[in-house]
Amino acid sequence: AKNPVTVLVTGAAGQIGYAIVPMIARGIMLGPDQPVILHLLDIEPQAESLNGVKMELVDAAFPLLKGVVATTDVVEACRGVNVAVMVGGFPRKEGMERKDVMSKNVSIYKAQASALEKHAAEDCKVLVVANPANTNALILKEFAPSIPEKNITCLTRLDHNRALGQISERLNEHVGDIKNAIIWGNHSSTQYPDVNHATVTTSGGEKPVRKLVADDQWLNTEFITTVQQRGAAIIKARKLSSALSAASAACDHIRDWVLGTPKGTWVSMGVYSDGSYGIQPGLIYSFPVTCEKGQWSIVQGLKIDEFSRAKMDATAKELIDEKSLAYSCLD
Ligand code: NAI
Repeated sequence: AKNPVTVLVTGAAGQIGYAIVPMIARGIMLGPDQPVILHLLDIEPQAESLNGVKMELVDAAFPLLKGVVATTDVVEACRGVNVAVMVGGFPRKEGMERKDVMSKNVSIYKAQASALEKHAAEDCKVLVVANPANTNALILKEFAPSIPEKNITCLTRLDHNRALGQISERLNEHVGDIKNAIIWGNHSSTQYPDVNHATVTTSGGEKPVRKLVADDQWLNTEFITTVQQRGAAIIKARKLSSALSAASAACDHIRDWVLGTPKGTWVSMGVYSDGSYGIQPGLIYSFPVTCEKGQWSIVQGLKIDEFSRAKMDATAKELIDEKSLAYSCLD
């Protein structure tokens, strides 16, 4: 039997936490034959609620689940962790300035970076989900210099999956037959969902999405804004965040990273920029990536038209601004 993999979920008493822990314990994140140990972290006021989640995990009698640690101690939570899913963060509340929210999250991610660096397993893979996801990941990367930057990523797979979902609805084709959408940039409303290279597998072979949709006007306007605004639309409908789809996307992100992307398929991940596609090196920016043997690499050589270029640069600019805002919170 395989050795268990230890997975940390921060913010585990929250909405996404509650949705993702059973998925992990059922093998959706790491595979149906991979035993797991769950480390659940939340803050002191949530300690009792967190313990309730642990009780339910025991009650669910998951055969793959070899242990649960529920704690408010960040050191205990990070010890020996192989995969860290960072969902905990400080939400924006009514009347709060952007800088105040940033400042709270910068201090959380700075502290958690040090704890991961000191106590996680070597080669720990980190996925930041909590917003501002790209910038939280950037802070984590900067304050955990001994963790390879290739191991620190943020979640844009939900946006990627939303793009596939919109195309599926529009074409009335199964979502599993649609692939190679791209989310460029920030996990925010400036993200650029791009289907210029996306295809649909039909009975007549692989066809470009652009050709099948045959409505550039829709693709260049409503499609983009629907994907960009989908999170807000779900909050409006549910009065709660999109926890189910975020949890599912986080499992997709880790699964593809660890087990590899299918041949001929790429996915979107927020990763540190090496300057590909003219994006400022060092930003955590969402790119199309393929994964093999636990390593992601940015898909190279895609043709970028002028429309795309402008949108990719606009979302990069927002990330540069967020980065300087984050740094201004450090002193
Ligand atoms: P939530 O408010 O239900 O849960 C957040 C949890 O984090 C709470 O239990 C809170 O106590 C905990 N927390 C706060 N500070 C912490 C700390 N220092 N250490 C550990 N835990 C801490 O929120 P929800 O709906 O679960 O969302 C979590 C985050 O994910 C939010 O920032 C949200 O904006 C973000 N999100 C990101 C998505 C993405 O695609 N990247 C999609 C959906 C949500």
